[in-house]
Amino acid sequence: MKVDVVLGLQWGDEGKGKIVDVLANTYPVIARFQGGPNAGHSLHFEGKKFVLHTVPSGVFRDNATNFIGNGVVIDPIIFRAECEEIEAMGVPVRERVAIAKKAHLILPTHRVLDAASEASMGAGKIGSTLKGIGPTYMDKTGRKGLRVGDILTSNFVERYEALKAKHQKTLEQYAGFEYDITEQEKEWMSAIEYLKSFNIVDGEYEMNNYIAQGKAVLAEGAQGSMLDVDFGSYPFVTSSSTTCAGSCIGLGVSPSKIGNVYGIFKAYCTRVGSGPFPTELFDADGEELRKRGFEFGATTGRPRRTGWLDLPALKYTIMLNGVTELIMMKADVLDTFDTIKVAVGYKVNGEESDRVPYDTYATIEPVYKEFKGWKKDLTSIKDEKELPAEFIEYIKFIEAELNVPIKIISLGPDREQTIIR
Ligand code: GDP
Ligand code: IMO
Ligand code: MG
Repeated sequence: MKVDVVLGLQWGDEGKGKIVDVLANTYPVIARFQGGPNAGHSLHFEGKKFVLHTVPSGVFRDNATNFIGNGVVIDPIIFRAECEEIEAMGVPVRERVAIAKKAHLILPTHRVLDAASEASMGAGKIGSTLKGIGPTYMDKTGRKGLRVGDILTSNFVERYEALKAKHQKTLEQYAGFEYDITEQEKEWMSAIEYLKSFNIVDGEYEMNNYIAQGKAVLAEGAQGSMLDVDFGSYPFVTSSSTTCAGSCIGLGVSPSKIGNVYGIFKAYCTRVGSGPFPTELFDADGEELRKRGFEFGATTGRPRRTGWLDLPALKYTIMLNGVTELIMMKADVLDTFDTIKVAVGYKVNGEESDRVPYDTYATIEPVYKEFKGWKKDLTSIKDEKELPAEFIEYIKFIEAELNVPIKIISLGPDREQTIIR
């Protein structure tokens, strides 16, 4: 069996959680491969709403293993709170979740370092979710990090203290930045004990065993390709590889094991945090997208920046990921618009271009094509044949430009508001 990958093609929050939940009943294994509690994946079903941060979005489906890969960074406090909430819904979370020993731990001081670094940058800040993601990945690549498997060793507390002391030394550089982790540290240590009650496994062996046993795996990306540490708008990115290749590294599977790559995009764009956003709107249309799309961060509650669909950026991320099928989300948010715009090219520093520029600070002016709005409520449509002609024209154009079929159309947050073509 192969590993199919679901990933965001824009700046995150494309609707990955919803789609993984929809697809999860056909996959016995769902696996997160990167990121951490900076992610907020929303699921709506049976009148309930749930936001997942660390646990994969297949957890509400019976009989699926929800695997947290080595590429993920885990904050035990957030993980515990999330699992207890899931358990309270009657879901046997311990039976459904397995964690790779090689996943790294977010310490309370990682969060403090994140906050201190952002505070020191003033207006130039990344706009991080302040979950300690950057500092934790820095310790990972700097070969100083603590991993989940370490919690089972006898000198874990000693190693924790050593890493904390190193962080405290670094924090001395941030003059005037005050912090107190006393309470958080107690909670963290208690959450470490909680973590021990989970199935902690040799992730790469486990993952390859699933595949050898003929179990189909669905890898769930976090963030989006435009936030990738290599290919996103650096430095306004996250600290992990959010592209398809990241699923191999973050799970321990070879590239030859990758099957379908499902690229998810919204019918418009959003971004939360700092950094370039060529099609960003600052007018009433932008406000309408935010209001109708309920564009507020699932993790931080921050209002998301909004703008029109950006095809040059989508072509770029489709190229990076080898997307085999597209999934279009939230077209229903456009239901009220008279005119819908799509960026088909850029003017970069005054010159026409179809490339996402290297220079994060370049002036990018989108070149737009306009479409007539369908002005119809799409949220209860279940059959493709009922879709209005203007909408069909819109998606046909997108498919032709991107040269990849749109396999799923999502027309509302609920599991049921999904058309599989
Ligand atoms: P993720 O991080 O990619 O999982 O996405 P988020 O959960 O952060 O943000 C997507 C938001 O859009 C959530 O509030 C979803 O409930 C909602 N959503 C998902 N799909 C649709 C859709 O097709 N239409 C509408 N209106 N909302 C959707
Ligand atoms: P999901 O999985 C949207 C953004 C932050 C910030 C930058 C770096 O829900 O799509 P970090 O905390 O990683 O150091 O922040 O990345 N960011 C996200 N934006 N969705 C996410 O996750 C994000 N995770 C991080 O806003 O700009
Ligand atoms: Mg999100």
